[in-house]
Amino acid sequence: METKVWHMRDHISEQDLAEIKGQFEASELVVIPTETVYGLGGNACSDEAVKRIYEAKGRPSDNPLIVHIHSMDQLGDFVQKVSPEVQELMRAFWPGPISFILPLKAGYLCERVTGGLNSIAVRMPSHPVGRRILQYVNLPIAAPSANLSGRPSPTMFQHAFDDLNGRVAGIVNGDQSEEGLESTVLDCTTYPFQIARPGAITKKMIETVLPHSVEGKSGLKDGKPIAPGMKYKHYAPDTPVTVLTQLNGPIPNNKDWQHIAFAVPQTLQGWVPKESHFIPLCDDEEDMKAANHNLYRILHDLDSDDEITSAYIYGFTNESRAEAYMNRLMKAANQEVVTGDEL
Ligand code: TXA
Ligand code: MG
Repeated sequence: METKVWHMRDHISEQDLAEIKGQFEASELVVIPTETVYGLGGNACSDEAVKRIYEAKGRPSDNPLIVHIHSMDQLGDFVQKVSPEVQELMRAFWPGPISFILPLKAGYLCERVTGGLNSIAVRMPSHPVGRRILQYVNLPIAAPSANLSGRPSPTMFQHAFDDLNGRVAGIVNGDQSEEGLESTVLDCTTYPFQIARPGAITKKMIETVLPHSVEGKSGLKDGKPIAPGMKYKHYAPDTPVTVLTQLNGPIPNNKDWQHIAFAVPQTLQGWVPKESHFIPLCDDEEDMKAANHNLYRILHDLDSDDEITSAYIYGFTNESRAEAYMNRLMKAANQEVVTGDEL
């Protein structure tokens, strides 16, 4: 299949929007930028489109999709009810990087979107290009991250293009995703709410709006992940990655570091062996925002750099702010961790 590219970094043309709308109406797939990661979009009311999403990604069909909207008015079509508490959270964080799992009103969306569940995850993205497209198209758009299943999520046009060129009708080239990690997924079908997948919106931020509304232990219900997607192997680059924690001094020059990369905060560059590849992760040990923003790009870069055979990536210890970052990094590293002293 020939994949069309629409360039929308500097200018969004009416003609491009109309073409994209036509593709969605024809149940074709279009990759769109969002502030978390690029999404592989298809019309959530079309069984054909949703089937194509699973095929294009090579994704297991029991893993439900997030539906993307541009206006709260769309919710009434496919959600049973939105409680005043959830409405308050939506007003606080939408448009933005949080998805809410709500009770499904059956009949409007195609069944395949939810993988047979009676709940539905919904998000209203804030990325100006993604948002403009959703407004223009005015359909609920199902969109998982625009990567092949098991690969790191795309935060740049090129990542999505490398994985999906030839497999989708089109890809929109927008800017690099501002947040860089997938949205927080909050299960609102029970109270207190539960974080099914950590993201930029933390428990603490949610509880600033609604005190004591989020369960302490995140992610599990009856010992199983709430979000079916959390049980799969995920986010792994081909280059072996190890998490590096407790880096409190210079790494000894005791072996051949030539083909090894260290992605650590800029302030710690002086501790990294000179022969190795230093990759700036963020400014300093407090700079979570840049670390989130850069992590997936670094994972992609490792695979495209032939000089690098393995990598150490900095692990943060601030549990609540770093939860989303560490959740993705630990998976990328297959749970391999070393401390600075062990090198
Ligand atoms: O930031 C994001 O959320 C991105 C962008 C494109 O919006 N999308 C994304 O979608 O990450 P995806 O499909 O890669 O991840 C969706 C996650 C999966 O872990 C899935 O299992 C979970 O949300 N999920 C979706 N619907 C659910 C439901 N009804 N109940 C429980 N988990 C659900
Ligand atoms: Mg994904």
